[in-house]
Amino acid sequence: MTRTTRIVSLNRYLPTGRVEPEHFTIRTKELPDLTDGEMLLRPIAFSVDATLRGQLTGQDNYFAPQVPLGEAVTGIAVSEVVESRHPDHQPGDRVVGLVEWADLSVWPPRTDWIGLTKLDPRVRKPSHALGVYGLLGGLTAHTGIIEAGQVTAGETVAVSAAAGNVGSLAGQIARIRGARVIGLAGSEQKRKILTEDLGFDAAVDYRAPDLAEQLRALAPDGPDLYFDSVGGRVSQTVMGLMRRPARVVVCGLISTYDDDTAWTVNIKPLFANGLTLQGYTPVQFHDALPAALDHLVDWVETGQLIPLETERHGLEALPGAISGLYRGENIGKMVVTVP
Ligand SMILES: NC(=O)c1ccc[n+]([C@@H]2O[C@H](COP(=O)([O-])OP(=O)(O)OC[C@H]3O[C@@H](n4cnc5c(N)ncnc54)[C@H](OP(=O)(O)O)[C@@H]3O)[C@@H](O)[C@H]2O)c1
Repeated sequence: MTRTTRIVSLNRYLPTGRVEPEHFTIRTKELPDLTDGEMLLRPIAFSVDATLRGQLTGQDNYFAPQVPLGEAVTGIAVSEVVESRHPDHQPGDRVVGLVEWADLSVWPPRTDWIGLTKLDPRVRKPSHALGVYGLLGGLTAHTGIIEAGQVTAGETVAVSAAAGNVGSLAGQIARIRGARVIGLAGSEQKRKILTEDLGFDAAVDYRAPDLAEQLRALAPDGPDLYFDSVGGRVSQTVMGLMRRPARVVVCGLISTYDDDTAWTVNIKPLFANGLTLQGYTPVQFHDALPAALDHLVDWVETGQLIPLETERHGLEALPGAISGLYRGENIGKMVVTVP
């Protein structure tokens, strides 16, 4: 009997411009029979990641492959094994890895740039494997603050996209390290959560016309470290206010993703403020990842680190969730769960 699944596919490439829900279609496709080494997975929690933007441009200049038009988008998810012809995984196992945005997905997907792992038994809520314990979540925040940022007690750290997935964790980790933390976030509700729930020392509106004055008042000597996920005008402003010498750790450039020409960096602050500018990915710090995960688990279990999530439900929620991420609709990790 032929089996089918619903998939979320991409209608057209977006070299520039905003991602909208209508750029995706939900359609049905046939599932092939499994061959040796393959599994049939049922995703139960999809990770909605800003990094997907680079896979929707149709330009082959990104670290991850472009999504073929009309075919399923792929992303990281926690899944249950339904059927297995893989020696290491049995039906009922829970695994974390790349799958198609589908009700049922054959693993491996057409290209696998992540690899598959069993769900760590310490993970109490499956979606935490994508957020606070995820490679593109807590592990990115941990390695960014501790390995790349080398944050020490008493330093002042500014964090952009501070109420997002990586930013909310990076700010809290800097605070755990004894730093004073200033978050940049786009709404009053987000800023309140940062200071009242997550222990940030201050939070500012990055769209405020007097952003520079507000930051100067909060840190007259300037931040020692800027943990940046947004780039563009905001980051140019922060870099101009930093202590000399200081560090900028570039995690992402989300404000530029819809327009590649959106930011030509003015490097004057690098010279004037003696800045070290470092881009990174967590994979670069591969040997540090097991200990980083242990720290994250310990901090969550002891209540020192609060994982925030924005949870939407059902496969059909994925197009709205990804476009909402770029509009700031999420607080903490954006996930789509399937009952
Ligand atoms: N280096 C790595 O290996 C790595 C790994 C994971 C993620 N990243 C990058 O890290 C960044 C954050 O990813 P995430 O998954 O944690 O997403 P996220 O921060 O949870 O969500 C994105 C947030 O960015 C803010 N934002 C959106 N457009 C913006 C703009 N034009 N200017 C300023 N802020 C804007 C929004 O918050 P507001 O409401 O505050 O605007 C939104 O909630 C992304 O750039 C992503 O590509 C890098």
